[in-house]
Amino acid sequence: IPTTIYPDSEQASVAVAREVARLIRERAAQGRPAVLGLATGSTPTRLYEELVRLHREEGLSFANVISFNLDEYYPMTPSSLQSYVRFMHEYLFDHIDIRPENVHIPDGTVPPEQVAEFCRRYEEQIREAGGIDLQLLGIGRTGHIGFNEPGSGPASRTRLITLDHITRTDAASDFYGEEHVPRRALTMGVGTILEAHEIVLLAWGEGKAAVVKRMTEGEPTDSVPATYLQRHPHVRVVLDEAASAELT
Ligand code: F6R
Repeated sequence: IPTTIYPDSEQASVAVAREVARLIRERAAQGRPAVLGLATGSTPTRLYEELVRLHREEGLSFANVISFNLDEYYPMTPSSLQSYVRFMHEYLFDHIDIRPENVHIPDGTVPPEQVAEFCRRYEEQIREAGGIDLQLLGIGRTGHIGFNEPGSGPASRTRLITLDHITRTDAASDFYGEEHVPRRALTMGVGTILEAHEIVLLAWGEGKAAVVKRMTEGEPTDSVPATYLQRHPHVRVVLDEAASAELT
């Protein structure tokens, strides 16, 4: 997988934000929407901050942007501190001119009996938008992308999954204790992610070094779903020094 290593996550985030801005402006000039696949978590926060700065100071408009978030805890109310709806509004949507009707985030309030239909419709909405132009990804220590935990195959679609123990441990501080972390989540599938036209995966810090190595140097396997990115024709990995430490 083509990999770019920056001295730190600050420089990496600013560089990727510029690429996102370039895509949005290019599409706007053509009178077309830019369809972005967005991630939450600690990894993309600096990137979103830079997009907000580009909007405020350099006139970058998001009026032509359509967004699809990767995942959401289940169950989860949008107003909860830990909801990804709240996260996206706090870090990005409240500070830019994206149209509310162009924002899509898996709905953690869907009743269980409607989950399958919700997931089917989410995929349909991505297709109706013309597919995802640029998908931003982080990676979990389990090797998950979105919340596709070990066991997720390359053909998996948007669905309800059970979170891995390690992922729940990593989320424990956000929820004031692991026992409060939801056991399940809604996520785009590996197959859904692989249909994006272009993918950029970001990873920072020494805590990600081992999984970054497995993702890029290991054989594609369900036990590290991120390894399936190796099969994508337009994927790039963007790292800071620390996350690249174990690469050979
Ligand atoms: C979040 C998501 C997850 C995170 C991953 C890394 O929408 O899809 O795959 O990207 O868990 O999380 P952070 O960035 O908090 O290390």
